[in-house]
Amino acid sequence: MTETEPARGPEFGAPTRPRRRLVRADGARLRDDAGRSYVDLGATHGAGSLGAAHPEVAAAIARQAAELIHLGSGYANPVRTEFLERLLGLLPPAFGRVFLSNSGTESVEAAIKIARSATGRPKVVAAMRGFHGRTYGALSATYRKEFREAFEPLVPEFVHVPFNDAAALDAAVDDRTALVLLELVQGEGGVHVAQPEFLAAARAATDRAGALLGFDEVQTGIARTGRLFAFEHSGVVPDLLCLAKSLAGGFPVGATVTTPDVERRFRGSHHSTFGGNPLACAAGIAALEVVVRDRLAERAARLGAVARDRLDGLPAARVREVRGLGLLLGIELRTPVAPFLSALEERGFLALSAGATVLRLLPPLVISDDDWWAGLDAVTEVLGRG
Ligand SMILES: Cc1ncc(COP(=O)(O)O)c(C=O)c1O
Repeated sequence: MTETEPARGPEFGAPTRPRRRLVRADGARLRDDAGRSYVDLGATHGAGSLGAAHPEVAAAIARQAAELIHLGSGYANPVRTEFLERLLGLLPPAFGRVFLSNSGTESVEAAIKIARSATGRPKVVAAMRGFHGRTYGALSATYRKEFREAFEPLVPEFVHVPFNDAAALDAAVDDRTALVLLELVQGEGGVHVAQPEFLAAARAATDRAGALLGFDEVQTGIARTGRLFAFEHSGVVPDLLCLAKSLAGGFPVGATVTTPDVERRFRGSHHSTFGGNPLACAAGIAALEVVVRDRLAERAARLGAVARDRLDGLPAARVREVRGLGLLLGIELRTPVAPFLSALEERGFLALSAGATVLRLLPPLVISDDDWWAGLDAVTEVLGRG
C-alpha cells in the first residue's frame, strides 16, 4: 500500500479525498513517500514541461541561491537582464518589453491593466470556456460559472463570445474595447484548439477598433504545442503575450510580453515585489537553454503525432472526440472522466481532467519514449474496457 495524506489537513480548500504524498521527481516520474513511482501525464498541472526537478534547473537555482535570493525590481540585476534577453530572443522582433511576475493569473492581470491603461478603454472580450486564472481581473475573463459565481460581483465590462466564432468576435469588438484575450488551446476548458481564421479575425477586429490583442499562453507556452509559442502555428502575432507555468522549469514565474509602443501608451504603474526575482530568472535561463538545445518543441510535435495515431483508434462508444496540439491532448468521453483517472492512478499514471468529461494529457516534454508509450498503453487499456 502506498501512503496517502490524512483526509482533512490544515490546507485551505484542499480536497477531502486523500491525495498521494509526492516527494521526488526524476524526468517525467514522480515518487511518493512510500517509494512508488508514477508517470506524470499532467506535467504537474502544466508547469513541469521539464519534469518537476530538472537537474540543470535545480543546479541553476542552487547556484543563484548561494549568491542572491531576492532583489526588489527597483534594482538592476544581470540575471534578470539575461533572462529577459533570452526570452525576447525567441520571440518576433516586434516585442521588446516584459513585465515579470510570479504566476499565470498575475501575467493575465498585468495584461488587462496594461491594455486598459494603454487604450484608455474599459471593455475586455474573452471566449466562452476560457480559463485565465483566479484573481479578480483574470477571473472576470474566465468563463465557467463554477469558478466565478461565489465571488461576484466581478470586474465590470467583461464579455464572452463563443470560441472559434469569428463573426461573434468581430461584432463584440467596438470602440470601447481595450483587449481581446484568448487562449490558443483552451486547456482547462476542454482542450479546444483555436482555428487560424478565428485568430486572424481577432487580429483584424482589434486593429480595426484600436484595441489590443492578448494571447494567454500560460499553458501552451513554451514548446508544448510543437512550436515554441502556439501563436506560431497561425502566424498571428498578439500585442500582449501571457506566459507562466513551465517558463522557468517549474519555478514560479509569470511574464507579460508586449511592445515598446504599448509601453509608451501605458499610464499609471504596475509592480510586483517578487516578480523577476533572481531565483526565478536563473531557473528561467536554465529552462530556456534546455528547451531550445534539446529541441523540445519538435519532440512535442513528434510525440503528439504518435499519440494521435494511437488514440484515434479508441472505441467510439466511449470516446466522442480526440483533439489537441502537440503534447496538449484532450480525449472527450461520453461519460464522466473521474473513474478513468482513478484507474490510471492505480496503474501508476497521473493524468488530468479538463471539465467533467475530458481526459487531458500534457506530459513533461522530457518524458522518455518508453514512459509515453506505456502511458498511451494504459490510457487505451483503461478506456477500451467495457
Ligand atoms: C491558460 C491559463 N491561464 C492562466 C492560468 C492561471 O495560472 P496560475 O494558476 O499560475 O495562476 C492557467 C492555469 O491553469 C491557465 O491554464
